[in-house]
Amino acid sequence: MTDGRVDALLSDLTLDEKLRLVRGRPDPEGRATGYVPGVERLDIPPLRLVDGPLGVRDREATAFPATIALGAAWDPDLARRLGRALAAETRARGHDVLLAPGLNIVRVPTGGRNFEYLSEDPELTSAVGAAYVDGVETGGVGATAKHFVANNQEHRRDTVDAVVPERALREIYLPGFRAAVDAGASAVMAAYNRVNGHYMSEHRRLLDGVLRGEWGFDGVVMSDWWGTHDAAAAAEGGLDLEMPGASAVELFAPHSRLLRALLRLRPSDRLDLDPPLLWRLVDRLADEGQPDPYPFDFFGDPLRAAIADGRVAEATLDRKVRHVLGLYERAGLLDGDGPDGRTPPGESRTDAPSVDWDAHHDLAREVARRGTVLLANDGTLPLGEDDSLAVVGPNADEAKVGGGGSSEVTPTRTVSPVEGLRAGASRVTFERGVKRVANPSMFDLPGSGLRRRVRSGPDFDAAVQAAADADAAVVVVQDGATESEDRASMALPGEQDRLVRAVVAANPRTVVVCRSSGPVAMPWADDVAAILQTWYPGQADGAALADVLYGADPGGRLPVTVGRRFEDYPVAGDERRYPGVDEHVHYDEGVFVGYRGFDRDGVAPRFPFGHGRSYADFEYADLTVERVETPGNDGVNAPALDATVTVANRADRPGRAVVQAYVEPPDPPGATARPGRELGGFASVALDPGERRTVSLAVPRRALARYEPGAGWTVDPGEYALVVGRSSRDGRGRATVEIAD
Ligand code: BGC
Repeated sequence: MTDGRVDALLSDLTLDEKLRLVRGRPDPEGRATGYVPGVERLDIPPLRLVDGPLGVRDREATAFPATIALGAAWDPDLARRLGRALAAETRARGHDVLLAPGLNIVRVPTGGRNFEYLSEDPELTSAVGAAYVDGVETGGVGATAKHFVANNQEHRRDTVDAVVPERALREIYLPGFRAAVDAGASAVMAAYNRVNGHYMSEHRRLLDGVLRGEWGFDGVVMSDWWGTHDAAAAAEGGLDLEMPGASAVELFAPHSRLLRALLRLRPSDRLDLDPPLLWRLVDRLADEGQPDPYPFDFFGDPLRAAIADGRVAEATLDRKVRHVLGLYERAGLLDGDGPDGRTPPGESRTDAPSVDWDAHHDLAREVARRGTVLLANDGTLPLGEDDSLAVVGPNADEAKVGGGGSSEVTPTRTVSPVEGLRAGASRVTFERGVKRVANPSMFDLPGSGLRRRVRSGPDFDAAVQAAADADAAVVVVQDGATESEDRASMALPGEQDRLVRAVVAANPRTVVVCRSSGPVAMPWADDVAAILQTWYPGQADGAALADVLYGADPGGRLPVTVGRRFEDYPVAGDERRYPGVDEHVHYDEGVFVGYRGFDRDGVAPRFPFGHGRSYADFEYADLTVERVETPGNDGVNAPALDATVTVANRADRPGRAVVQAYVEPPDPPGATARPGRELGGFASVALDPGERRTVSLAVPRRALARYEPGAGWTVDPGEYALVVGRSSRDGRGRATVEIAD
C-alpha cells in the first residue's frame, strides 16, 4: 500500500466516517482494550488494541515477568525476543496493537506502576525499551510507547501537573520515548498528567513540537483511557485518537450487567448497601488516581462542533485520520497482505498464528531468571540438592504474576515458589507464617469469587519451627502494588519484616526472596544469608526461583537504586517534589534522579544501581577508549566513544557478567551541575568457566552531552573518563579521553 491509497481513502471518507476513525469505542466482543470500529463502506476493518505490557490482556496469555525484571536483565536481545513473543500472542488473540512498553522513569521508589517500567536510568530504559519495541513491531504488531511523558507517580495522576525543568525532561524523561520512536513504534500514548501546565493529551509543544517536529514521529498519538479533556485543545495539541471515547459504563457493559448498573449510580444516588465492598470498583474508578468514569466523547460531537464553528480546521482532522490509516497500513489491515515488510514473511497481520505456549512459558522462566538480582550471598547459595528446605512466607504458595491494574494478565499456568522448589528438592515444607498479602486487582468484581481463599490460617511459631528444623530456610516476601495509587511506604506490608527476623534467628542459612514492584526497605539485609530480588516474576515464578537457588547464575543487576529508606531518595524531604502540593509536583531535583541524586548527596544506598552478584567471579582488564566520529551524523544517538574491555570468568562455573560503562564528564562551565557518573553503555555476556571475552561498548553522544535549554545538546570540551565495572559504585577500570571541540 502506498500513500496514494491513504489519500484516496481520505478523499472518499465523509466527515462522520473520519470522526469514526479518531475515537475508540467498546469492542462488541468485549475483548479488546481499545477498539476503532473502522468504516465498513470502504472496507476499513476494525482496529484492535490490547494491554500490555506484561502480557496480552485477553483471555489467557503468558504472564511474563514485570517490565522492571526485564530492565534488570540489562539485555536488549532478550527484550527483543520477549517483544516477538508478545507480538505472536497479540496476533493469536486477534489484535493489531499492543499497549506497551511502559517507558516512564522510576522517579519515586514507591510509585504504583514501577513494575511496569524499566528503570531509573534513561540509557538503560532507551536501549532495552527500543529492543522491546523492535521485537513487537517486527513481530507484526504495533507497539505503543506509554505514558508520554512524566507520568512518574500514580498519586493524582489524572490531574497532577508535573513541573519539570527542560533539561531534566530532555536528559532523563524523554530519551526512552525517543529511542522507541527511532525503533519504529507505531503509536505513542499521551499520559494522564499535565506537564508544565498543559495536559499531555493536548500538549502542543511536546506532541507536535518535540515528538513529531524534532523526532519525526509519523505514527498515532492516542490518549490514555479517559485522558482527554477538551476537543479543540486536544485536536490542536496533536492528539490523533481519543481512547476509549466511551464511558466506563459502555466499556465494561459487555463484562458485567451488575457493574453497568452500579456505574450508572452517581455517589449521591447510592443506596446504603452493606457490605461497602459492592462499591469498591466503582470507587476505584473515581478515586484520586483514576479519571472520571462517566461519559466521555470529545472526538465525537464536540469535535464535529469545533470543526463546524471553525475552532478546528477539517485539515487538522484529516491529518489525524492519515496517521490512523497509516497505522492500518503498517498493520496490513487495508489490503490484508502484510505489504510493508513489517509483517513476518509469508504471513499477513490478519492471520492468527498459533502460539507455542510451552515455549512462551519457558521464555517467561528465562526472563524471570535473567531478571533476578542476587543482592547478597554469604556463600549459602546455591543450595545443595540434598538440603531440606523450609519455605516460609504469606504468599509463597502462589506465583506473583504481576501488579494490579491494566497490565493484569490471566496466566496460561503458574508455578508457585513452593511448587517450583518441590520439583527441585526432595524435602520441602511450607508455612505461611503471617497473614497473606493482598494482590490488588482493578478487575475484582464484588462477589465474583476472584479473591483467593486461604484455607489454613498463618501460624507464626510453626513457620519459625519449620525453619529451625530445615537445613535452610527460604522466606518469600512481597509487596502489593497497583496502578492508580502509589505504595504508602517502602516497608513490606504486614508482619513480613518480623517474620524474616524470626526465621533468620532460627536458621542462619536463611535466604530472602523479595517479590516487589520496585525497591523496598530491607531492615534485615545485613543479617540474612542471601537476598534474591525477583520483582514480579510472572507465571514461571517458582520454576525460575528453583533454577537460581540450585545454581543457574542470576543474570540480573539493579535497574533502580535500593535505598535504606524513602527519605534517602532525591524526591524525598519536600512535599513539593513528592507527592506534590495543590496539584503540582515540582521536579526540583532536576536531572539528579535515582543514583545521580544519591551520588550527588553522598548518601550510601543499601544496594547501588547496577549492583548484582554472580555465582561466578569476573575480572576486568585492558580497558581502551577511543573517540569515534560519524561523518555527517552529529545526532545525539550517533556513537561518540568506542570502548573495549576484556572480561574473564575466574570461577569454575558458568556465569553472566553485565559490563557497565559510566561516563564521568568534565565540569561544565558556569553554575550548571552534572551528575558525577552516568551510564553510557553496557553489555550482558555469558562466560563459561575460565572463558575470557573482549567486549565492545558503543557510547552514544547523548551520554557525553548535557542539554542546555536554548542551545540544545552540548558536549563540553575537556577530559571524559569512562569507568567500567560491576555497578554504579563498583568501578573496575578507568580510561580517559580528551574532547577538544
Ligand atoms: C493505563 C494504560 C492502559 C489503559 C487501557 C490506563 O488506565 O494507564 O496504561 O493501557 O488504561 O487499559
